Amino acid sequence: MPLDAPAGAEPEDALGLVRDAAVLVEGERVAWCGPRAAAPDVGAPVEDLGGAVVLPGLVDCHTHLVWAGDRTRDFEARLRGATYAEIARAGGGIRLTVRAVREASAEELADLAAPRLDALLAQGVTTVEVKSGYGLSLEHELAQLEAVALLGERRPARLVATCLAAHIVPDEHKERRGDYVRLVTDGILPAVAARGLASAADVFCDEGAFTLAEAREILTAAGRLGLRTRVHGEQLTGTGVATLAAELGAASVDHLEHVDAAGIAAMARAGTVAVLLPGATTFLADPALPPVKALRAAGVPMAVATDANPGSSPTTHLWLMAQLACVSYGLMPHEALRAVTVVGARALGLADAGVGRIVVGGAADLVATDAPGWRHLLYGLGDNPARRVWIGGREL
Ligand code: NIG
Ligand code: FE
Repeated sequence: MPLDAPAGAEPEDALGLVRDAAVLVEGERVAWCGPRAAAPDVGAPVEDLGGAVVLPGLVDCHTHLVWAGDRTRDFEARLRGATYAEIARAGGGIRLTVRAVREASAEELADLAAPRLDALLAQGVTTVEVKSGYGLSLEHELAQLEAVALLGERRPARLVATCLAAHIVPDEHKERRGDYVRLVTDGILPAVAARGLASAADVFCDEGAFTLAEAREILTAAGRLGLRTRVHGEQLTGTGVATLAAELGAASVDHLEHVDAAGIAAMARAGTVAVLLPGATTFLADPALPPVKALRAAGVPMAVATDANPGSSPTTHLWLMAQLACVSYGLMPHEALRAVTVVGARALGLADAGVGRIVVGGAADLVATDAPGWRHLLYGLGDNPARRVWIGGREL
């Protein structure tokens, strides 16, 4: 998959599709790839995949995979008519999960997250971003990120940790918001960066979370610490954070249901990735959808992710998210495939290193599918077409 498909490229060119192809793997890396007829004669054992559609390992670039507790009551409250924001104001929502996460050890959190990660691996998702954001104190944010590190030791997936200490203001700081923002900028983010527990920081800028001015402080502090930056933004209300994030060099703005024309233009200028999260709009039955046509017309790269979390998107089905991105948002199948591979990798700053692509020198993270053709991958709603998965050349 090419890194930047030219606008208007034919679907198969945008995908870099090679028919009757071969991939030569040496150790953990791709040593050669291209048409089988041109493949070097290596004499080594050759696996015949029988004409299967083979993709780079998928990338889930936005998850909250590490969590504890139970949000089914929130779910039922919403079905009775309460909104996500109302539930949060009434003390449910993210706060409930924070209480449960603070009671769990890093080991327990990793135990809870492992089956969720296994569900992703079974779909050929080989690179997974995982956020903190349910700890909201130095001690508990570190514990949540330590759980991500433990998970990475237990499973072969490539994990990318993001510190989302700026998810919401925790109860104990409710009357002193400024103190919490300073704890994030001067305490939590520096500690996380110093320990190498995350490579990026994220801020939820929205009603009930952080203001635009607070988001600016946090993103600026994270940037100074050498962390890549991401934003949960324009989800429940339009705040203008897409413009701010693009101007500050954030890697992505995620959600975007309420992004305005200025935000789209700023993202296009800066090359900021739009991360679309159909799990959240579907589960919250949000009538506002991200403006895919305008994002496409402006040339904003679009990724799709699960947003796996207990409140707004309790799913680990990345294939279904890509399929819903087509059905509900109007992505074309080739855009959806790029969205869960190369563009997702770009949101994580890994596309140049060959993640989400099959390129010589890149890691041999591959998925062989059982679909009759690449378009079918996005067509069977709820299908998981992955049949064989390799990470660094080793089959799972
Ligand atoms: O990405 N928008 C904010 N955060 C999460 C939801 C987290 C939760 O409800 O637990 C999201 O949708
Ligand atoms: Fe999220």
